[in-house]
Amino acid sequence: MELTPVKVGLLGMGTVGGGTVTVLSRNASEIARRAGRGIQVVQAAVRDLSRARGSDSEGIALTSDPFAVVDNPEVDVVVELIGGYDLARELVLKAIANGKHVVTANKALIAVHGNEIFAAAQKRGVTVAFEAAVAGGIPIIKAVREGLAANRIEWLAGIINGTGNFILTEMRDNGSDFADVLAEAQRLGYAEADPTFDVEGIDAAHKLTILASIAFGVPLQFDKVYTEGITQISRDDVHYAEQFGYRIKHLGIARRTEQGIELRVHPTLIPERRLIANVDGVMNAVLVKGDAVGPTLYYGAGAGAEPTASAVVADLVDVARTLTTDPENRVPHLAFQPDTLSDLPILPMASVETAYYLRMSAADRPGVLADVTRILGERNISIEAMLQKEPAAGESNVPIIMLTQRVLERQMNEALERIEALPAVSGSVMRIRLESLSSD
Ligand code: NDP
Ligand code: HSE
Repeated sequence: MELTPVKVGLLGMGTVGGGTVTVLSRNASEIARRAGRGIQVVQAAVRDLSRARGSDSEGIALTSDPFAVVDNPEVDVVVELIGGYDLARELVLKAIANGKHVVTANKALIAVHGNEIFAAAQKRGVTVAFEAAVAGGIPIIKAVREGLAANRIEWLAGIINGTGNFILTEMRDNGSDFADVLAEAQRLGYAEADPTFDVEGIDAAHKLTILASIAFGVPLQFDKVYTEGITQISRDDVHYAEQFGYRIKHLGIARRTEQGIELRVHPTLIPERRLIANVDGVMNAVLVKGDAVGPTLYYGAGAGAEPTASAVVADLVDVARTLTTDPENRVPHLAFQPDTLSDLPILPMASVETAYYLRMSAADRPGVLADVTRILGERNISIEAMLQKEPAAGESNVPIIMLTQRVLERQMNEALERIEALPAVSGSVMRIRLESLSSD
């Protein structure tokens, strides 16, 4: 007996919503063969009803009232692609209360309100699927939640913001200006509505929050992520890093230690021989180390209409397949059964250990370098490599660049405070964390 199509209500038909409609239309028969029934978009909410929509959206009833979609009795699944925190939360909770399954690409929503949303969904026996919320088209949620279910995940590190990686790549390869590349990322539909979320690491912190929960079985704790953006990275830093054999990438890192969990987003030097150091443009990659499988790497487009739609539609297919499944026997939202989440502490940044790249501007006279190395040595901070440039014509200061061995951030903070107080050192010391990302 042929099943009736699953009826979908879209909230938003912008970059991702538009891509979702296109993919569902173009691959309709293939998708129906996988899902066991058709998937049909019946209604969509948009802000501007007068804007022209693609020909694939013919037959979809448009409304400017998103609550009309979540209250529509014909709709089985609500796909939230509006973005943001408050309205999206209200709509998703209403959809759940109405007994509808939800698919969302909204990482801000899941990272900040996910605990509340999943509890409501669990109670109502509906699914909230969010594959598109992390790393665009890469099926990383499914990989960590299901494919690696046998493992104790030790750490993960990822390039999880396409816009930021696009900017860093263009700056390195073409010497492009930060603002110009950001404008291009916005034009291509990669950037968030507020692009400071991309360049200041907030978007990556949302995604890291989600990844850490499904990797370690802890509640979503966005407020505990240490977050640093890419706006302070200069072309000089990119260039010096290359001279030492490193690339600078904006990484999200989550690591389980004996004391607790590290959760941090910051620019990071990575050895250029690592595959992840060669992930360029809008591409994302996530490296996950499990105790049984060892290191695994997941790579693909991190943003954009159809790559993200690929993940949204995969969630829709999952929902269609599970419509007849007993709610108690579905895959848990955060990978671990809700009553078994652990209260492992998230570590403050001062307790995190990494290696460092340091760049400072110092007077070109005897004894300055000895003062700097003494301050580092007093705190057992070993220097791994060092580069001192000739002063530029007419300049009395020289750039000194150092790579250090691993040390607690607390000790490095103390050392930097002392170095910056030296009369011969001008301004603040640029510090970028360095990770070898080796398999241990
Ligand atoms: P867009 O800005 O392109 O689209 C937003 C859509 O929501 C538009 O159709 C807009 O209407 C509609 N909308 C906004 N506010 C309202 C409202 N109050 N009532 C009704 N409709 C409304 O965003 P994206 O498609 O880029 O992003 C959507 C979500 O997907 C976000 O959470 C984002 O973080 C996430 N995401 C985005 C990716 C990307 O590559 N862009 C990748 C992965 C996730 P109108 O069309 O009339 O303006
Ligand atoms: N703004 C996000 C990015 C979209 O650039 O990665 C994908 O989540």
